[in-house]
Amino acid sequence: RAPATIADDLLTWFDRHGRHDLPWQHPRTPYRVWVAEIMLQQTQVTTVIDYFQAFMARFPDVETLAAAPSDDVMAHWAGLGYYARARNLHAAAQQVVGEYDGVFPRDVETLMTLPGIGRSTAGAVVAQAFGIWAPILDGNAKRVIARLAGITAAPGSAAYEKPLWQLAERYTPHERVTDYTQAIMDLGATLCTRRRPNCPACPLAATCVACIDGLQVDIPAPRKK
Ligand code: ADE
Repeated sequence: RAPATIADDLLTWFDRHGRHDLPWQHPRTPYRVWVAEIMLQQTQVTTVIDYFQAFMARFPDVETLAAAPSDDVMAHWAGLGYYARARNLHAAAQQVVGEYDGVFPRDVETLMTLPGIGRSTAGAVVAQAFGIWAPILDGNAKRVIARLAGITAAPGSAAYEKPLWQLAERYTPHERVTDYTQAIMDLGATLCTRRRPNCPACPLAATCVACIDGLQVDIPAPRKK
């Protein structure tokens, strides 16, 4: 299926059904998008919202975060779990201030040199904060693309990860990249869910391999233990 029609159908769906009022979308600064993406790595949107607001009230910009005592940063993370994220966030803020004068790098490669920022988080910052083309592939986007393309390999294996990144690049449009990245994450979180995907409501169902072949519960395959 042509990548352009996938992006178009997804964006049309997003305009009506996507999430347009998340706090990090207003205003959508690199600092706010970055903090949100780190929180969202292992925590659901509904939980993240309140923590995000409190965090921004206390650390409104990267300079404030970089200069804060680590106890204070950790206290604002308490409850979110996975505390390495907070330590990395603090260290990355100090690096952005120390090495980049407080200005976030605008490319995936440089962002990935910051602690806690992997390829997908870097892509999300580039696409969402700068509106520059970059693929993202968080857990939600992986599931959507694996089902769409019928990729049955086990998550974590190269046979799963490698084609997913290639397809993520192919599907990501050059127009409206900010909305597209949000759209694919929203589709994964709200319709293309792990256990009970709502295929009748999905804008991509007509050409989704998993939906057509009835493989929704088989993709993604269970993780090998
Ligand atoms: N998960 C990771 N990033 C997200 C985002 N920007 N919106 C919703 N869910 C997400």
